[in-house]
Formats: sequence, structure tokens, C-alpha cells
Amino acid sequence: MAGALTRLQFGSLPIDPPLLLAPMAGISHSPFRRLLAELGGVGLFATEMLSARSLPSENPRLSPFLIRTAAEHPLSYQLLITDPREAAPAVDALAPANPQAIDINLGCPAPRVRCRGGGSRLMQEPERARAVVAAVRRATPLPLSAKIRLGEQLDEAALVEFCRMVEGEGVDLITVHARLRGEPYGRTPRWGWIGMVKQAVGVPVVGNGGIFSVEDARRCLDASGCDGFMVGRGGVVRPWLFAELAAWLDGRPAPLPPARPVLFFRFLTYLEQGLAPERRLGRLKEFTHTFSQTYPFGHTLASSVQASATVEQARTRARRFFLASDPVGLEACG
Ligand SMILES: Cc1cc2nc3c(=O)[nH]c(=O)nc-3n(C[C@H](O)[C@H](O)[C@H](O)COP(=O)(O)O)c2cc1C
Repeated sequence: MAGALTRLQFGSLPIDPPLLLAPMAGISHSPFRRLLAELGGVGLFATEMLSARSLPSENPRLSPFLIRTAAEHPLSYQLLITDPREAAPAVDALAPANPQAIDINLGCPAPRVRCRGGGSRLMQEPERARAVVAAVRRATPLPLSAKIRLGEQLDEAALVEFCRMVEGEGVDLITVHARLRGEPYGRTPRWGWIGMVKQAVGVPVVGNGGIFSVEDARRCLDASGCDGFMVGRGGVVRPWLFAELAAWLDGRPAPLPPARPVLFFRFLTYLEQGLAPERRLGRLKEFTHTFSQTYPFGHTLASSVQASATVEQARTRARRFFLASDPVGLEACG
């Protein structure tokens, strides 16, 4: 079945392998993307959601939301946009970052996003969503995608109508996070609903939600017939997951996972190289919160980093955790 899933054509952009990094606020930034790029397997990188209203005032050379290295390629910038008038200035502000694609966030369930009229709120207001998508489409010739959830309640007709609408407004790809707006991450994703969207539109449909292993991807593919996978938390818990999925799609044996302490300290180095000092600790905590699940008793790592007042303190505490829990991995750090 995996043989059926080959490279994905996203507008003018080929995505090979058809594996997309999910936009994750506080996580999908340049240092994390750099780590993934080294491990391989990502066909399209993503930024976290970026407020279209704020983008024009970001400094393209310094902003942690805009900066990138050459390795993070191709890279899609995700817009959190509520008003069609924000589209052209936001797209112009992205130009110095040289995006390969643009994504529109139509699925974020966070109340602070919804109360401003963005994310999943737009799925409840299809006419405003239409105007937003059309405005972004007019503003850029780049490949354009939309990322959605399933909506407020299970309603196939409404979901299909919404997806056909965004396709009609010129979106080149749709990513479906297979949960309703109100459903927590603990709930089993409804991968079959990705398949309903796939049947209804002509553009590629990417499946998202709950892919933590090759087995998950296989089941998602069987249930949905999707054209590619978007992976979020699974790529933080096991940053080599993309390389594993790529090997599976190619029919190659899975690569050996790297030592986890090596990944942690490499990420820390990239944070220090890429971001201003005051931008590092919060992002280290955010990453560690999920990465720590790579260990059965990782909550000790998460809580000790969480309670750190400085990056140096977090580094010392992490080293202590690895010494006790993964001495062989720590040794690989040299
Ligand atoms: C910490 C975190 C931040 C997220 N931020 C965003 C975001 O900025 N934009 C977005 O569209 N989705 C965001 N999401 C949702 C993910 O893109 C993805 O849809 C979700 O995590 C399900 O995929 P997964 O099971 O592979 O993690 C976020 C998820 C997490 C866990």
C-alpha cells in the first residue's frame, strides 16, 4: 500500500517524500527545523502560525518567526489571518524570507485565536473564509494550502462543501487534521474523514493527526487514501520519525535512531546559534515538554527543564537526567 504513495505535487512544488512537518506554535521554528533537516525525510517544512496583522512589523533578519537556514527547504509559512485586507501586506512581509509555499490556518481551536475570528472560527463563517482565501490567492503566485479540522460536528456535507469552496478559491492542497474543533489530542483521530475530503476534491489531501510511527501512517493511509502525511508531535517525540517514514515509503530498512541526548544537545546548540538569548529558554521548555515523551519516565526531564531559570541550568539538569536514564546515549555526545 505504501508503494501507492509517492511524491506529491503541490501546485508547482514537488514534495518528495510526501511528508510534511506540522506548524506548531513555539516548536516549528528554525532551530527545530534544522535538527529535522539533518535527520532527513521531511518533504516540506512549516513555520508556526504567524499573525498576518503583525508580520509587516517583524524584522526579517532577526524575527524568530521569519528566519531560516538553507537546510530548511522547501519551507511553507503559515498565516493566521482574519481579514482579507491583511493578505497582501502579510505576503509582502514574507518575501525577504523566500517562502516556497504559504499555508492558511483554518483549524486552530485555541480560544485566543478564535475570539479574534481566526483559525477554526473561519470554518464557521465560510463566506469570510472564502474572502480570506481569495485575498491570499490574489496576493501570491506561490503554492497555497489550507489546514483545517473537521469542523464543529460531524457533518460530511458541510465539510465537503467547505473544502470544495477553498479549492474553488485557488488552494493547491488541503491538510485535514482529523479531529473536530472541540476534540482533544487524546481522542483517536478520525482518519476516515480525511478520505471523505479526498473523494470530494481534486487537489492533494494530506492526512494529519496521531501519526507517531510507521504503523500509524500505514493505518491512516488505509483509512483515508491520503496523498501525504503531516506529522507534528510525533516528530518532536522521535525527531527521526520522518526518516523512518521516508524509508518505509521507499521500501528501505528503517535507519538506526540517533542517540537521544545527542539530539537534545544539538537542538540546544541550534537554539543558541539561531535565536537571541531571550528567545531560547521558552522554546527549549516547549520542545522538551514533548521530546521528553521519548523516554518512559521523561516527565522528570520535562519538569526539571520546565523549572529552570536559565538555559545553562536546563542544560545541567538535562545532563543529570541523561546520566541516570540514558548513559549510553550521553556517552555518544562525546
Ligand atoms: C504545541 C502545538 C502547537 C501547535 N500550533 C499550531 C499552529 O501554529 N498552527 C496549526 O495549524 N496547528 C498547530 N498545531 C496543530 C498541529 O499542526 C497538528 O495539527 C496537531 O498537533 C495534530 O498532529 P500530530 O498528532 O501529528 O501532532 C499545534 C499543535 C501543537 C501540539
